[in-house]
Amino acid sequence: MSPRKSPEELRSHRWLGVNDMRSFGHRSRLRQFGYDAADWAGKPVIGIINTWSEINACHAHLRARAENVKRGVWQAGGFPIELPAMSLAEPFVKPSTMLYRNFLAMETEELLRSHPIDGAVLMGGCDKTTPGLIMGAISMGIPAIYVPAGPMLRGNWRGQFLGSGSDVWKYWTEKRAGNISDDDWSEMEGGISRSFGTCMVMGTAATMMAITEALGLALPGASSIPAADSAHPRMCGAAGRRIVDMVWEELTPQRLLTPAAFDNAIKVHMAMGGSTNAIIHVVAMARRAGLKLDMQRFDALSRDIPVLANVRPSGKYLMEDFFYAGGLRALMLALGVKLDLSCLTATGKTLGENIAGANIFLPDVIHTLADPIYPEGATAVLTGNLAPRGCVMKPAAADKRFLKHRGRALAFDDYNHMAREIERDDLEVTPDHVLVLKNAGPKGGPGMPEWGMLPIPKKLVKAGVRDMVRISDGRMSGTSYGACILHVAPESFVGGPLALVATGDEIEIDVANRRIHLHVGEEELARRRSAWRPPEPRYGRGYGAMFSAHIGQADEGCDFDFLQAGAAIPEPEIH
Ligand code: FES
Repeated sequence: MSPRKSPEELRSHRWLGVNDMRSFGHRSRLRQFGYDAADWAGKPVIGIINTWSEINACHAHLRARAENVKRGVWQAGGFPIELPAMSLAEPFVKPSTMLYRNFLAMETEELLRSHPIDGAVLMGGCDKTTPGLIMGAISMGIPAIYVPAGPMLRGNWRGQFLGSGSDVWKYWTEKRAGNISDDDWSEMEGGISRSFGTCMVMGTAATMMAITEALGLALPGASSIPAADSAHPRMCGAAGRRIVDMVWEELTPQRLLTPAAFDNAIKVHMAMGGSTNAIIHVVAMARRAGLKLDMQRFDALSRDIPVLANVRPSGKYLMEDFFYAGGLRALMLALGVKLDLSCLTATGKTLGENIAGANIFLPDVIHTLADPIYPEGATAVLTGNLAPRGCVMKPAAADKRFLKHRGRALAFDDYNHMAREIERDDLEVTPDHVLVLKNAGPKGGPGMPEWGMLPIPKKLVKAGVRDMVRISDGRMSGTSYGACILHVAPESFVGGPLALVATGDEIEIDVANRRIHLHVGEEELARRRSAWRPPEPRYGRGYGAMFSAHIGQADEGCDFDFLQAGAAIPEPEIH
């Protein structure tokens, strides 16, 4: 048990507890709100970083949920202050929310640093909000607890369950093939998103919420609770109570985020059949914590961890079913000895103590190590002359015949080029071709958009083809599926080998041996390299220019170079 702080040791004491002219100003402004000294004196000030906004339906409930958090903070003797932050609504933010993940991380860190905050409750869930909030909180280094927004309810269309994203891709392909009507499509539009909350397949949101819980940064079971379930506001209240004690115990992210905790998170990612996007985010989070995690660690651990969660897009069910099956505590119980159960968590207890008493209630939703739904983990990291610093693939979500494949490239210079060509009825393409998209990376996209699940060419869709090998330096939505090879590093925009691929080149994929190879001779590659010219920078000014100047490659977590772990930043002067 940690020694408890005294009120004078609270960070907020410098703003509120001393007797000078500036603190008079701080206290008088709190009184302006109608608060009294009894509300704040000697109490931890809890900053609730809330990513609610009117354009983010995944977070539509977070305005009300912040009140549940505040209730808990008051109950435990803290003083809650809600601070709004950028919402990063995945469906609306263009060109890609990934362009702004680091923006949210900076905003979170500086909101906490510049205000009299002793501990933080981080409210988010829609894809990039989770890593953005966590990265900022790690860099700030005060006690923090994460409140996941939770998944929405199952989608419904004429009695069939619909999954966010995954079923959009699936039925859009059927629509292109002429198999469903405009009326069907319109009905689905009204049925696929039935409540507030995040996407309810094992997309990036569900994956990152679970990973954050596995790291020990959320209450046990929190990440699996559907947003619309009454357990969700109860969890919010409990998080509000807990953060107050975390402040007194000085239970900072640095004390929780050990190499073993990250290994646990990666193993959970694999067992969940999680999103490929998580690799980028977890690498970035670990590096903020001062740990040198790289993509190869994911590959090494994936070989030992099978997929246990039977959830789309790798499996059959949805996150609502996963909750009824016992949720993340049950999945971690199933992983058992594979995890380091001695890791400390936000509860002040170990991971092992947190999952004691968990149960699997629906065995077809959460499988066991003895009966997995896929024998290896969710993600494979391939390297070779086409991706010297690596690229990733989700074998469980691909047609198995593409796990070892050699085919001719059909290369596109950028998204618009691809979009024009792919609809042509006279396109020279076969199901064995390898579709290659360039300039979709961190600098080239820009912001590494989720373009990696390239559409199957229309003439093949009509012929019944539903999967092909596709390679890009972009990402794909965690809700996507197929033989998509992503995150090729270094990216083509900076002259990575992907930039040199020409239509007709042969490309070989060998997932079992983690290999990707461009069958073009060294001499020819050297000739193409010397003829290659870097594209014009995407931005001449503003945030985009700063992004382009400082963004790292996918294998580095796409963090800004100046935000990674380094010298401590002093507390702000108060004069
Ligand atoms: Fe918000 Fe998918 S759109 S989680």
